[in-house]
Amino acid sequence: MSQCQQRVNQTLNSKLAVPLPSAQLLAAMQYAGLGAGKRIRPVLVYGSNQAVGGDLAAADIAACAVELIHSYSLVHDDLPSMDDDDLRRGKPTTHKAFDEATAILAGDGLQSLAFQLLSNGQLALDAETQLAMISLLSEASGAQGMVAGQSLDFEAVGKQLSLSQLETMHNLKTGALIRASVLLGGLSHGDTSGSQLDALGQYAQAIGLAFQVQDDILDVIGDSATLGKPQGSDQQRNKPTYVSLLGLEAARARATELANQAVAALGEFDASADRLRELASYIIRRLH
Ligand code: IPE
Ligand code: IPE
Ligand code: MG
Ligand code: MG
Ligand code: MG
Repeated sequence: MSQCQQRVNQTLNSKLAVPLPSAQLLAAMQYAGLGAGKRIRPVLVYGSNQAVGGDLAAADIAACAVELIHSYSLVHDDLPSMDDDDLRRGKPTTHKAFDEATAILAGDGLQSLAFQLLSNGQLALDAETQLAMISLLSEASGAQGMVAGQSLDFEAVGKQLSLSQLETMHNLKTGALIRASVLLGGLSHGDTSGSQLDALGQYAQAIGLAFQVQDDILDVIGDSATLGKPQGSDQQRNKPTYVSLLGLEAARARATELANQAVAALGEFDASADRLRELASYIIRRLH
């Protein structure tokens, strides 16, 4: 994991070192994009790239792109008009460190940079695959994916959701980008078969949901210092979560069940997929 974290940090550092017309905007993008996140989505890109026999360098840009999208989503998620949180990755949120307008624009800039990187230069073995990668990330992060999930999240405040509505919301707001990360890793290698991509998609679907279930659990049982973000934010804002709907024990059982499903989906892979298998258990155990 730390090898992958270092790799993506290097790419992020270099891509966010390019001067921009606004030094303040650049500083805010660096602040938000280079913070102390776990880099799980890039690690998943690298993990699935390895599962299909690729080399890590081929996945560098995709790994960087998904993290840029994720970091932008956190900046906007924390805004006063959204979750209104003051702490992120152990530091004041971007709108606290700068101001709200700069934070909004930094998020916008990080998002566009992700697509600029994915479309500049040769990324995949052929142009068609590269286009498929860009299309995949745009769908997963936009109004058919993460942004839809965020909208459902805010529409749900103070309401009672059914389990299937909650699951849909979680699959969109968090699962979609995680699924895209895994598939991008698979696509960044030349000859990934359709059945391998199907298996990776099933794995990703399960851990994507498990990830948000665990995030909901951590909001209850974690502490702000370890989480690097305010504990109890969901409850304070009256957010429907796995824990509020099912209780802590059932939420934990669901996370474990999903992690097991994820590992089962990797049946056709040999030891090359061990990183992905380990990540499935890490995701439901992580306390940071
Ligand atoms: C937090 O994601 C937001 C969710 C989508 C649940 P992470 O837990 O991956 O946050 P960082 O990147 O490590 O800060
Ligand atoms: C965030 O969900 C999902 C995003 C798309 C950013 P949360 O609002 O639960 O994430 P945290 O707990 O603030 O990191
Ligand atoms: Mg939120
Ligand atoms: Mg939040
Ligand atoms: Mg949360």
